Amino acid sequence: MKKIIVIGNGGREHAICDALLKSPQNPEIWNLATAVNPGIENLGVKIELTDSLENFETLKNLVEKIHADLVIPGPEAPLAAGVADFCREIGIPCFGPTRKNAQLESSKSWTRDLLKNNGIADACPDFLVSMEKDDPTRAKFFKKWNGQVVVKADGLLGGKGVLVAGDHFTDFETADDFAKKSIEKFGRVVLEEKLIGVEFSLISIVDGESVLDCRVCQDHKRVGENAVGPQTGGMGVISDENLSLPFLTKSDLEKAHNITVRAMHAVAKEAGDKFVGLLYGGFIATKNGVQLIEYNVRWGDPEALNILCTLESDFLEICESACAGNLEKIGKLKFTSVATVQKYLCAPGYPDDPEKGGTIELPAILDGENFRTFFAGVEKISEKNPSEAVKISGGRAIGIVGFGENLERANEICEQKIAEFSGNFHHRADIGTSKLTAKRVETMQKIRH
Ligand code: AMP
Ligand code: GLY
Repeated sequence: MKKIIVIGNGGREHAICDALLKSPQNPEIWNLATAVNPGIENLGVKIELTDSLENFETLKNLVEKIHADLVIPGPEAPLAAGVADFCREIGIPCFGPTRKNAQLESSKSWTRDLLKNNGIADACPDFLVSMEKDDPTRAKFFKKWNGQVVVKADGLLGGKGVLVAGDHFTDFETADDFAKKSIEKFGRVVLEEKLIGVEFSLISIVDGESVLDCRVCQDHKRVGENAVGPQTGGMGVISDENLSLPFLTKSDLEKAHNITVRAMHAVAKEAGDKFVGLLYGGFIATKNGVQLIEYNVRWGDPEALNILCTLESDFLEICESACAGNLEKIGKLKFTSVATVQKYLCAPGYPDDPEKGGTIELPAILDGENFRTFFAGVEKISEKNPSEAVKISGGRAIGIVGFGENLERANEICEQKIAEFSGNFHHRADIGTSKLTAKRVETMQKIRH
C-alpha cells in the first residue's frame, strides 16, 4: 500500500487528504501537522504532530518510520524553506517546487524580473524594483502613475504584504513608509501600476513540460459584502458549471494558460531545475487583456476546496506523474460539470483580530451529494463529540461547498447548509449570488468596450 505524507493542517490540506483518499489506489495517508484538524482525523488519516512544518527532521523521521512513497506539502512556508530540496536529498518524491523555484511566490521582484527577462513582459503591469531606502525613483514612479500604484513587500508576509492605492493609501508618504519597511526586512520592494479589471485564479499542475489546468475559480478576498473592508486569506470561491466564470472568454483562459506555460519554462531556465507542482496564477482580465498579478506555488485556499472535491481524475496518480515528469499521460484533468460555491465561516473579528475559543455547533450531516464541509481553523472540544461541535482556533474556521446546476443554485445549497451551523461566526452571503455575478459580468463588459 502506498504511503503518502501531506504537510499542513488547514482547510486546503483537508481537501487534499480527501482527494487522495478517493484514489482507486487506496493509499494510506499521514498528516504532518502542527495541530489536529478534526476533519482530517475523521477521514481516518494518521496524524503526526510537529512543532513546525519547516522542521524537516520530523519529516525525515516520519518518512523513515512509515517508509513513505510521496510527500505533498500544502502551504507555501515549507516550500520556501526548501522541503522539496530536502526530500530530494533523502530520496523521496515531493509534489512541489524546489526552494529556488518557489521564489516565484516568495519573491515578487524575482518573478517580475523573470517575466521581463524572458519575453513575458506583456503579461505584466509596469513595475519598479527598488533597493535603497532613499531611492528617488519611487517618487517618480508614483508620479508617473498619478498615485495609482501597488506596493509589494518582497517576501512572505501572510497576506499582509501588498498595499493598493485607494484601498490602503492615498498619499506617497504612506506608500513609501511601507516600501522602506520592505527594503529593511527583505532588501527590496516592488512598485506596480495598479491594474483595473476582474481577478481570477487559474491553478495548473505542471511537471516542467506539461501544464494541466484546473477549473478556473474566483476568490473573494475582502472581508465584507460588496468587496469592502480589509483583505483576508479568501472568504469564498466560485466556479461555474462550465468549469469557468461567467465574465471570462475562452480567449482569456487561453491567454492565462499561455502565460503559465511560458513562466514554467522561464523558471526552469533561470533556476536550473524543472518546475514540479502547482502554478497558481492570480490573473486579472483588463482592457489590455489578461495580466498576471502574482504566482503562488501551492493550492489556493479556498480554491482547493472547489477544485479538489469536483476532481474526477485520480489525484494521487496526477501527483505521482508530475513528480516522475510524465504528466502528459494523464491527458486533460476531469471535473464534475457542476457549479460550485464555497464560503468560509470565520471567527468574529477576522481578519484584523480573530477571536478564538468560540464554539460552532455542527449539523448532523456534513457531507452530501450536493454539499461538502471542510474544517480549517477549528479543533476538538475535549468533552464533546467532534461530529457535534468544534472550537474555533483560527481566523477561517469551516469551509462549506455547495454544488448546483448553476451558481445561483449552488449558492442556495451552500447557504442552506450554513444556516444549519450555529455559533458566533461571520461569512459573506453575497458570494455566488446572481446579483454579484451580474455585477462582475457588467464590469467586465464595460472594461472590454
Ligand atoms: P497578493 O498578496 O499579491 O495576492 O495581492 C493581494 C491583492 O492585491 C490581489 O489579490 C489584488 O487584488 C491586489 N493587487 C496586487 N497587484 C496588483 C496590481 N498590479 N494591480 C491591482 N491590484 C493588485
Ligand atoms: N485564495 C488566496 C490564496 O490562497 O492565496
